[in-house]
Amino acid sequence: MLINNLLFSTFWGLVMKIFVDTADLDEIRELASWGVIDGVTTNPTLIAKSGRSFKEIVDEIFKIVDGPISLEVVGTTAEEMVKEARQLAGIHRNVVVKIPMTAEGLKAVKTLSKEDVKTNVTLVFSANQALLAAKAGATYVSPFIGRLDDMGHEGMQIVEEIVDIFGNYGFKTQIIVASIRHPVHVVQAARLGADVATIPPAVIKKMVKHSLTDVGIQRFLEDWKKVPK
Ligand code: E4P
Repeated sequence: MLINNLLFSTFWGLVMKIFVDTADLDEIRELASWGVIDGVTTNPTLIAKSGRSFKEIVDEIFKIVDGPISLEVVGTTAEEMVKEARQLAGIHRNVVVKIPMTAEGLKAVKTLSKEDVKTNVTLVFSANQALLAAKAGATYVSPFIGRLDDMGHEGMQIVEEIVDIFGNYGFKTQIIVASIRHPVHVVQAARLGADVATIPPAVIKKMVKHSLTDVGIQRFLEDWKKVPK
């Protein structure tokens, strides 16, 4: 099983992608410099938190990261979402339009998928919602794990279900594990074979650290001083 998985992933070049979940340009710049960021996800809350204009932020993100950049619509009817999505998609080839998981959102995704506009169906809290989004032709679905955990549910459970369902039927829709709160969520997402984890900068910074690494470096540096010159 392990060997099969390995051969499959190697053959298709599949590695879980890491997106950074923020609109903070300094954070995006710093993390992109580490060479491990494949894309960016934003939402209206993150844009508002940045204190900058939407245009200022997106223009800059495209210069920093050459990968999928999710930008969210704020319309509520399918017609409004499609109109906004077309405008957003026209900004840059890397735009992925975030559409909320509603019936109107599904209609919008269906229309946009026929126009080859990439979509990320957001605010997904159940496997059934993900199934509908995939059937409508979504490029990505974003199950929000942390918010489910906050409510006393086991958020990662729905990722497991979605991975199974998409695998059973060969849906091309990619799974972005979103609303990640801590490094264990990232490990769980990768073990389940999620396509992408979108991670807040603070969590990515925790992923790189281990106290034993720091102690080990310190000891090596101290011992190096004892080597005769
Ligand atoms: C995903 O695309 C969302 O921006 C994000 O993961 C939401 O996370 P939160 O629950 O921490 O707001």
